[in-house]
Amino acid sequence: MARKIIIDTDPGKDDAAAILLALGAPEELEVLSLVAVAGNVPLARTEGNARRLLELAGRADIPVYPGCARPLVRSVITAEHVHGETGLVGLVLPEPRVPAQAAHGVDHLIGTLRAAAPGEITLCLLGPATNLAMALVKAPEIARGIAEVVWMAGARSEGGNVTPASEYNVHADPEAAAVLLESGLKLTLLPLDLTHQLRMTAPRLERLRRIDTAAARAVATLFSEPDGTPHHEREEEGAPLHDPCVIAFLLRPELFAGRFINVAVETASPLALGMTVADWFGVTGRPANATWLNAVVDQEGFFGLLLERLARLP
Ligand code: RIB
Ligand code: CA
Repeated sequence: MARKIIIDTDPGKDDAAAILLALGAPEELEVLSLVAVAGNVPLARTEGNARRLLELAGRADIPVYPGCARPLVRSVITAEHVHGETGLVGLVLPEPRVPAQAAHGVDHLIGTLRAAAPGEITLCLLGPATNLAMALVKAPEIARGIAEVVWMAGARSEGGNVTPASEYNVHADPEAAAVLLESGLKLTLLPLDLTHQLRMTAPRLERLRRIDTAAARAVATLFSEPDGTPHHEREEEGAPLHDPCVIAFLLRPELFAGRFINVAVETASPLALGMTVADWFGVTGRPANATWLNAVVDQEGFFGLLLERLARLP
């Protein structure tokens, strides 16, 4: 029985790879919907990109719901320097044929999770947590329908990629991160500590380019373009494959390892806003609330999975 998932996303080049990886695993994952959020680029682009990617993969049947156009409290911080003005740097896709859904993404989350059986749906978050946080504040009873939340978020040993202290998905909406961390939901975080170990190196890009599918070509294009990935994120060759780690974890959790710990988030300090304070050694006495994955057990296993599933798509 395929696991039912909803992907909340801000495509975004690495989001694109994650969405296509999920679509390449129909036996294991039933993608119920995509919910777009403002993040790497404004909402109008992230929701359009979500629809473009679904149509690229021949899955225009999956609905896309536009979610929040800004964080809960703060103004939008985008990342065109990394993802391009369109959000899919270097990749030209046709205008999507299928319109976005009329319902708001937050209302879609509430309606779907309210109607779900207990623990029926897994939420995959690839961007700021604004939509889910707002849904939980408006309708806390939806937690019943959530199996778990798997979120690319945070940093501890790696420092940040937006500030020295904070990773983008948390920094963009730290208050939303706090709602999730205090929710009591089963939460797995895939921080920069993990995703910085998984890079689209030149040899891997060459292997990707040899796959003759539109999906593989699209990901190769996205990761070929010179982009503004901050230099410190490029210390090793190749851009990090952040968001595909979320989907890879669902498909093959044994690829990664970590620890169940307490994670808190800074929401007040201008210097460290959005810092995830990951209590790896349990020194605070605060109760554990998230699984913090920071070890890659099988590098080649991850990348082989990505290539193998992209090869299955049109
Ligand atoms: O910090 C990396 C995260 O921020 C990724 O999800 C990337 O797509 C951006 O949203
Ligand atoms: Ca993202």
